[in-house]
Amino acid sequence: MKQQFSQILSTPKPFVKWAGGKRQLIPILNENLPETFGTYFEPFLGGGALLFHMLTERQSQKCSISDLNSDLVLSYTTIRDRVEDLITSLKNHEKNYQKDSKSYYYSIRESNPRSQIEKTSRLIFLNRTCFNGLYRVNSKGKFNVPLGKYSNPNIVNEDNLRSVSHILQSSKVSINCRDFEAVLRDAKKDDLVYFDPPYQPVSDTANFTSYTNKDFTYDDLSRLAELCMDLDSKGCRVLLSNSNSKEVADMFSAKPWKINKIQANRSINSNSKKRTGHYELLIRNY
Ligand SMILES: C[S@@+](CC[C@H](N)C(=O)[O-])C[C@H]1O[C@@H](n2cnc3c(N)ncnc32)[C@H](O)[C@@H]1O
Repeated sequence: MKQQFSQILSTPKPFVKWAGGKRQLIPILNENLPETFGTYFEPFLGGGALLFHMLTERQSQKCSISDLNSDLVLSYTTIRDRVEDLITSLKNHEKNYQKDSKSYYYSIRESNPRSQIEKTSRLIFLNRTCFNGLYRVNSKGKFNVPLGKYSNPNIVNEDNLRSVSHILQSSKVSINCRDFEAVLRDAKKDDLVYFDPPYQPVSDTANFTSYTNKDFTYDDLSRLAELCMDLDSKGCRVLLSNSNSKEVADMFSAKPWKINKIQANRSINSNSKKRTGHYELLIRNY
C-alpha cells in the first residue's frame, strides 16, 4: 500500500552505512555534475549517497539505479513498497537487541530468513549493529562481520526510512539487480552515468572488495574502462570515481577523459592529523 504523506518528510539519506559510501564527497561530486542531462544512471548503487542528493535537488529527475548485491537491491524495493511493515520488523529487532545484544546479534547473523520484510530488516539491523557498519560476505555469500561496539545504535530511523520510501515511489526511479555492464543497453545520448565501483586496492592491506560473493577483479575494471569508452561513443556523459592508482590513470589517459585528484577523508577521526592525506580520482568525459 502506498503511504499517505501529510506530514513533512526529512531529507532522505542513505539508510545503510556502506564501505566506499560517498556522503562526504557530495559537495565535490555535485560541482562535477553536468548542468543538464537526461536520465541519471547509478549502476554501483551501494548506499546511494549521490542518488539521494540528486533526488532531493531535482525531484522529477528520471533515474535508473542498480547493484549486483541482491539483498541490497531488495532493501530498496522493500522500503519503497512496504516501509511500515519494515519499521515494525526493525522495532522488533531493536527490542530483542536491547535485551541481550551479543547473543541476539549472532543469532540474526546466523539466520537465513525467506520473507522480503525479514530479509531487509535483517540487513539493516546487522548494518546498524555490526563492526563499522561494514557489509562483507565470504566466498559463500555469508555475512561475516562481528558485532560492533555501540551503546545505543540507531536501528530504526523511521523518519529517514519514510523519506526514502516516498522518494523511491516516484515512477521515474527504476531499481534493478544486475551487473554494471547492462547500462550500455539503456543509456542514451546526453544521459549521465556515475560509476562508483569497488576500488582497486592501492596496497595489499587495503583490499576490500567483498560486497558480493564475487570479488571485483582487474578484469572487471578493464571491462568497466571499455564500457566507459562505449558510453562516450554513444554521447553519454560519464563520471567515474576510483582509487588513486596508476592502472586507473593509465586507462583514462587519452582524450576526452579528464582526471581530477581529489582529497577524500575516509572517516571522521578525532585526531585531525589522521584526517588528511587520502586521495582518489574523479574522472569524466565532459
Ligand atoms: C563503492 S560501492 C558504491 C558506494 C556508493 N556510491 C555509496 O555512496 O554508498 C560499490 C558497489 O558496487 C557493487 N558491485 C560490485 N560488483 C558489481 C558489479 N559487477 N555490477 C554492479 N554492481 C557491483 C557492490 O555491491 C557495491 O554496492
